[in-house]
Amino acid sequence: MEIELPWIEKYRPQKLEDVVGQEEPIKRLQSYVTNKTLPNLLFSGSAGVGKTSAAVSLAKELFQTGFERNFLELNASDDRGIDVVRKTIKDFARTLAFEADFKIIFLDESDALTSDAQQALRRTMEKYTRTCRFILSCNYSSRIIEPIQSRCVVFRFRPLNSKDVEKKILSIAEIEKIEIDESALKAISYVSQGDMRKAVNVFQAASSGNDKLGEESVYNVASQARPDEIKQLIEKALAGEFLKARELLDNLMYEHGMSGEDVILQLYRELIGMSEEEMPSKRKIELVDTIGEYNFRLVEGANERIQLEALIAQFGKKE
Ligand SMILES: Nc1ncnc2c1ncn2[C@@H]1O[C@H](COP(=O)(O)OP(=O)(O)O)[C@@H](O)[C@H]1O
Ligand SMILES: [Mg+2]
Repeated sequence: MEIELPWIEKYRPQKLEDVVGQEEPIKRLQSYVTNKTLPNLLFSGSAGVGKTSAAVSLAKELFQTGFERNFLELNASDDRGIDVVRKTIKDFARTLAFEADFKIIFLDESDALTSDAQQALRRTMEKYTRTCRFILSCNYSSRIIEPIQSRCVVFRFRPLNSKDVEKKILSIAEIEKIEIDESALKAISYVSQGDMRKAVNVFQAASSGNDKLGEESVYNVASQARPDEIKQLIEKALAGEFLKARELLDNLMYEHGMSGEDVILQLYRELIGMSEEEMPSKRKIELVDTIGEYNFRLVEGANERIQLEALIAQFGKKE
């Protein structure tokens, strides 16, 4: 049997223009390509929104045939430590760039470094400024020490909106010849919440071995419930129908295989999305507060079943 490449790799953007939903950063990056200059860059944004893809595409466009030789991708939080990272950088930076004025070092997960390690990284960046440009990526730029931030131009990558997620999924579906119905498409964008890596992975897993995809497989693969199932649970709980709500909860945990934390997260999400008519904000705030408390208990290792049932009981209490 032919081993299939993960679709996130197979369909990774190769050019800046293929990176969807990040118009503003992409436009600015394209101007670096036009001018053939580059400052050090800091890409910040949540997982799966195109940071690595943008860095790779930028380097490909700048270097073209010299890409392999002039581009180095490293994980800043390499298990072997910052010294290994610095040694690798040193070896790479020692030789001249191939048909270009500089090389590019892409350091993923820079905010996983301790501030001491970031200081060391800063010194390394300074040492090689003549021959190398650094692109650092992080989830939170606030976790990057100021001396590094001030040496970089910061780019913010946003979570992708459902339109962009759906467009990319549809384009993959066409090539893979998978018939995807509207509800499944909506489901993929719902479970992935702006994370394109997750969207593509869920799509691949859910359609594995099938040329048709419906919403059920999507929710199953993602261990999430349909929004209306969660809404129903909330309604029953609010109405004080504890036994009915408990039955729905059973269904989520045993049939869908959701963990307590999965359930809490989705409860939170649906609650936040409710309109003022469905739930007045005052009550909403109280319940969000309660959800926060129960979430904390779960993280601390309390029994999932008991905590979730207690949470449901709280929903039923009249203010
Ligand atoms: N903005 C985007 N446009 C198109 N594809 C994307 C985008 N963001 C993520 N992807 C898809 O998800 C995969 C992972 O994206 P990546 O660039 O590694 O995300 P990040 O570095 O932000 O975590 C890519 O291979 C690609 O298939
Ligand atoms: Mg990345």
